Amino acid sequence: MSKQFNIREVLSKHTIIPVVNITDINKVESIIETLTNQSINCIEITLRSDIAFEAIAKAISIKPKEFKVGVGTIVNAKQVSKCIALNVDFMVSPGISNEVASAFEKSKIPFLPGVMTPSEIISGIEKGWDTFKLFPFNLAGGIKALKTYGGVFNQIKFCPTGGLSENNYEECLALNNVISVGGSWVLK
Ligand code: 3PG
Repeated sequence: MSKQFNIREVLSKHTIIPVVNITDINKVESIIETLTNQSINCIEITLRSDIAFEAIAKAISIKPKEFKVGVGTIVNAKQVSKCIALNVDFMVSPGISNEVASAFEKSKIPFLPGVMTPSEIISGIEKGWDTFKLFPFNLAGGIKALKTYGGVFNQIKFCPTGGLSENNYEECLALNNVISVGGSWVLK
């Protein structure tokens, strides 16, 4: 199976992914409400705060059925195990290691590995993957990088994140090799 467990299906239904660092558990409900009011039915909660897993568990327990709760900033296998236990909808990493790659593959949960360079894309292709987070989008070369990668790796789809804003996300989404976009600007 794998092919990243149908991550493309998740991303094609959720083309704008709010990347959110939750530091106050009492805000989980209002964050989900704010997003659903904007017809955004997903969130990527990052593992960058002490209460991240608590916030993820709460989001899963109160979310509407169609709303997808993903986890971002995954950097080790232990975090993947916690995601499996919580039954999250998708997982995102800023980059990839052998440890994280094999935990992702065993999870059966849709996952989006981070890449920035051609060599990292080729390593991912060798693992059988075809959909990546391009991170950090602004440092990787922005729109120019996406266009260049589109010519070189024409089967690959990207979700650029890192430095996106309301001023450039639509230009990204218009590219053939962009399946979705993510960032913290969505909730600001
Ligand atoms: C991520 O983890 O995807 C990024 O940190 C989001 O970057 P942004 O804050 O620049 O949108």
